[in-house]
Amino acid sequence: MSVDPILTLAPIRGITDAVYRDAFARCFGGFDRAIAPFIPLRQGQPLKPGELRQVAPELNRGLPTIPQLLTHHAPTMTAALRELHDAGHAEANWNLGCPYPMVAGRGRGSGLLPHPDRIDAILGNVLENSPVRLSVKLRLGYRNPDEFKAVLDVLNRYPLTQVILHARTAGQMYGGTVDLARAAQALAACRHPFEYNGDIIAPCGFRTLRGQLPGAASWMIGRGALACPFLPARLKLDSVSTSDSAIDKLKPEIPPLPAPEERRRRLREFHGLLLDGYGRWLSGPGHLLDKMKEQWTWLALAFANPRQILSRIRHSADLAAYAASTDWIFDQPLAE
Ligand SMILES: Cc1cc2nc3c(=O)[nH]c(=O)nc-3n(C[C@H](O)[C@H](O)[C@H](O)COP(=O)(O)O)c2cc1C
Repeated sequence: MSVDPILTLAPIRGITDAVYRDAFARCFGGFDRAIAPFIPLRQGQPLKPGELRQVAPELNRGLPTIPQLLTHHAPTMTAALRELHDAGHAEANWNLGCPYPMVAGRGRGSGLLPHPDRIDAILGNVLENSPVRLSVKLRLGYRNPDEFKAVLDVLNRYPLTQVILHARTAGQMYGGTVDLARAAQALAACRHPFEYNGDIIAPCGFRTLRGQLPGAASWMIGRGALACPFLPARLKLDSVSTSDSAIDKLKPEIPPLPAPEERRRRLREFHGLLLDGYGRWLSGPGHLLDKMKEQWTWLALAFANPRQILSRIRHSADLAAYAASTDWIFDQPLAE
């Protein structure tokens, strides 16, 4: 028997919003679900209609999406979970990983990791009467990479749906290397289904990682999929045999990239869906242009000459110039 890996699209604020998730699912596939970028809760205030709309189940049918909350205030979180329940959600995710000083410095996101007692108090309070289930996404620690141990002791006492670990400290931000030895320790210590996250960027590296963390229930991918949207479908096809038979264990070839013309067609279609979707969500050509420029920071990496492409995009002063730039871009050679 072979097992397909369960893959989650990571939350990337500013990029993996509802329009992106839907277009991705239609053009590339490969993901089983997504966690949406965090909603920063404002103490004592309800969720904004736009925040609820972004994660609305009916607008996220292409890729089932779990909303993520950022807060250190239990009553506000309890109220938000009720609102999410009323909006049709069965599950939410709590962000204990955000490294930005504006967030972590104020004791939210990764700023909670040095304080397992506070995490305990918040979970105790919130889960007492939560109408939805909760998962947690965390880093190894804020500055100290061993903080996850005391945090997991707390998380293990609550009925969470899963624990997602980005195997870096907050101090590392998004650079440096992931700490697979500590990820393995966390996996061994965690009583909940464990989702690994960090630097999954290529099929052969993913095979090695699956060998190193054989007990992981699922895998979260962010930048690797943004840079190469064909990655998750390839990983999904690269199923691993659970049989003891030597023949079954023979590894097949790593699933190849689709042919260049097929990739070009799908990238063009994806871009068209983003342009169309943001055109409907955003008001005015200026906002649309800004949004598309932001998307190109990642989309450009699907091409062999990303710098040239980004420069062309950045110099597009209006939507007409932008359209001319994208006509040129989609004739450029693709990255391999
Ligand atoms: C620009 C940017 C925005 C991010 N926004 C969020 C977020 O809203 N919530 C969250 O939990 N993680 C966020 N992350 C972290 C990613 O979800 C993920 O944990 C991280 O990029 C490591 O995974 P990767 O190597 O597969 O990208 C963000 C990362 C980046 C680079």
